[in-house]
Amino acid sequence: MKIIVLNGSPKGERSVTMQYIDFIRKKFPQHELKILNIAQRGKEIENRKDVFQEVIEEINKADGVLWAFPLYVFLIPSQYKRFIELITERSAAVAFKGKPAAILTTSIHFYDHTAHNYVHGICDDLDMNFYASYSAEMYDLLKEREREKIYNFSRGFFEAIDRRAPGIKVYPSLNVETTEYIPSSSLDAIDTQGKKILIVTDGEEHHLNLNRMVNRVAEHFTGMAEVINLHNIDIKGGCLGCIRCGYDNTCVYSGKDGFIEFYNSKIKTADILVFAGTIRDRYLSSLWKTFFDRGFFNTHIPSLMGKQIAFLISGPLGQLPNLRQIIEAYTEWQQANLVGIITDEEPDSKKLDDLLRELAIRSVEYASSQYIRPATFLGVGGRKIFRDEIWGNLRFPFAADYRFYKNTGFYDFPQKDYSNRIHNLIFEWILKIPVLRKKIYNEMMVEKMVEPFQKLLNKL
Ligand SMILES: Cc1cc2nc3c(=O)[nH]c(=O)nc-3n(C[C@H](O)[C@H](O)[C@H](O)COP(=O)(O)O)c2cc1C
Repeated sequence: MKIIVLNGSPKGERSVTMQYIDFIRKKFPQHELKILNIAQRGKEIENRKDVFQEVIEEINKADGVLWAFPLYVFLIPSQYKRFIELITERSAAVAFKGKPAAILTTSIHFYDHTAHNYVHGICDDLDMNFYASYSAEMYDLLKEREREKIYNFSRGFFEAIDRRAPGIKVYPSLNVETTEYIPSSSLDAIDTQGKKILIVTDGEEHHLNLNRMVNRVAEHFTGMAEVINLHNIDIKGGCLGCIRCGYDNTCVYSGKDGFIEFYNSKIKTADILVFAGTIRDRYLSSLWKTFFDRGFFNTHIPSLMGKQIAFLISGPLGQLPNLRQIIEAYTEWQQANLVGIITDEEPDSKKLDDLLRELAIRSVEYASSQYIRPATFLGVGGRKIFRDEIWGNLRFPFAADYRFYKNTGFYDFPQKDYSNRIHNLIFEWILKIPVLRKKIYNEMMVEKMVEPFQKLLNKL
């Protein structure tokens, strides 16, 4: 059978993910796996209608489609996202309808699930027949046990195609109806207390609600907030995944476009960032995705640490818990504070006015008190993955990350906690004595757990 591999790596066939495809090819020579370099040829596919059409023709003729891509910043690379947008923009969805589909990714398992959820949602929107997804750690192919799993996954996909297996739809279609937001004429000014406020939007002229929400928040800050539209930033392209930034955060685009200068001089110097965008399929626009991907020149260093970040979103975020999680995880991983996310799903304009005012008030209040909400699993878990990777597997090539993590105490491995280690050693021995073990578990446990808190509270 013929499988079309939609390659999402900007590196084309010299990519880690494509080595997995080569492995599958070697194991199943009876099937043709044709790779289309979607992300690498993104500009060409967008600018030349004939090239786009060739891709669609290949999909038409295929027995199955494999979405194969690297994880990029909680999702897929921006170039790949743009291709997904073009499918609906150019009414090409019909080519995908009913086609068996599967996902294969490589990553370091940092928010691989949100990327999988997203592409699965896209497959459901395109009415594809979804088989399953496979998330390989980037070096898995080098391990025999993992190769066996990849083999089984691929075999399963081919066999499912053969027997015309049905796929389960997981993500319901989105209801994208919105009510027009009509801001009231009265508005009160909020004292910005000298905080530097930057609103970044990708609003186009027809994004009425988004533009009105942006203006409303800006007006609350009485001209003290700078508004920048991403369309006006000179961005030559998406992240190329070349890791030129690994040694000292110097991007391959340095001096070639305006993004690095914009990020360093505007984004990094703001106290309060308001990110505004309209939902496009199941995420924001590919332009916003380009922003997040290109921010990768900071590699795994949280470049927005300590900032207040608010989101203004036009579109059905309430139906996209995956996108909400990405936003929450992004701010938590950045060690920034998510002030709030306001959307135009609120049909009552007066109420939306109030919500936007409250967002503006809180962003200044939190910036003044330097309040950063404690991270949940989203931030804590993510940070531990990076800590371990940068200490180990990824120390080379990410030398800048290693230096930063070392100098800022990111390497908080439990084995460094010497008092805890002594404590654990003592208890290991104590617990071997039955009478003491019984006393501890039966009589002392609950009391001892609150003892340090009570000592502190008594002192206060
Ligand atoms: C810009 C950029 C962003 C990345 N973001 C993530 C991420 O969010 N989660 C993750 O697990 N890995 C992330 N990675 C790691 C890649 O997914 C991983 O190295 C992958 O194997 C690269 O595949 P490729 O060579 O096929 O492009 C990122 C890499 C780059 C260059």
